[in-house]
Amino acid sequence: MHFETLVNGRGPLRHDPFKALVVPRPIGWISSLSREGHVNLAPYSAFNMVGYDPNIVMFASAGRKDSLNNIEATGEFVCNLATYDLREAVVKTSVPVNHGVDEMQLAGLTAAPSLHVKVPRVAESPAALECQYLQTIPVPTLDGSEPQHFMVLGRVVAVYLDDAILTDGKVDIAKLKPLTRLGYLDYGVLEDCFSMPRPKATPDGTGID
Ligand SMILES: Cc1cc2nc3c(=O)[nH]c(=O)nc-3n(C[C@H](O)[C@H](O)[C@H](O)COP(=O)(O)O)c2cc1C
Repeated sequence: MHFETLVNGRGPLRHDPFKALVVPRPIGWISSLSREGHVNLAPYSAFNMVGYDPNIVMFASAGRKDSLNNIEATGEFVCNLATYDLREAVVKTSVPVNHGVDEMQLAGLTAAPSLHVKVPRVAESPAALECQYLQTIPVPTLDGSEPQHFMVLGRVVAVYLDDAILTDGKVDIAKLKPLTRLGYLDYGVLEDCFSMPRPKATPDGTGID
């Protein structure tokens, strides 16, 4: 099958396969503070690294949600690492609640102080990226209608790592077991990895040895 999404959406399928085809997605478990100082926590799988050195992350909000509003108001957020062991709590914190309700508390999690930002990290998560807000990019539409998605960029200013997830000074994926988002109601867990050297430039620049 081969279909044009602008013409017939999900084609003959009952569910749009899009999110099942951009996989696995890392989950940014975003903590933020409201202007009044209330803690907010929610998972975002439209989350990734944008660049490194300086280290920049992004997440995208479908509509204007509390995380986006808080971050724009306070200029800070923390990306806590969502792990397989914390999967139930991760999903629990996606519950739609009134502005000002603390999802960290709701999910039975503990707030731990951050090093560089006022926003607390999730104490139970083995890793966290403390971020300073850079910019919101309203994602343009093809027909010029109002943007539906808002991309938030943040500069990583401090990193928290539980020493227990390290082996020889490197993050050990088998210990970390990151939770990943797949399509539908599906999730994955990353436990395995392998290494491969990158090809070296050839003297003539053709890439052929
Ligand atoms: C694993 C997971 C990933 C999610 N990813 C996104 C996402 O990328 N963008 C989004 O707008 N909502 C996403 N959601 C839904 C939000 O978490 C949910 O709307 C939440 O209530 C937003 O909270 P907030 O208003 O406190 O920011 C996701 C939910 C789950 C369970």
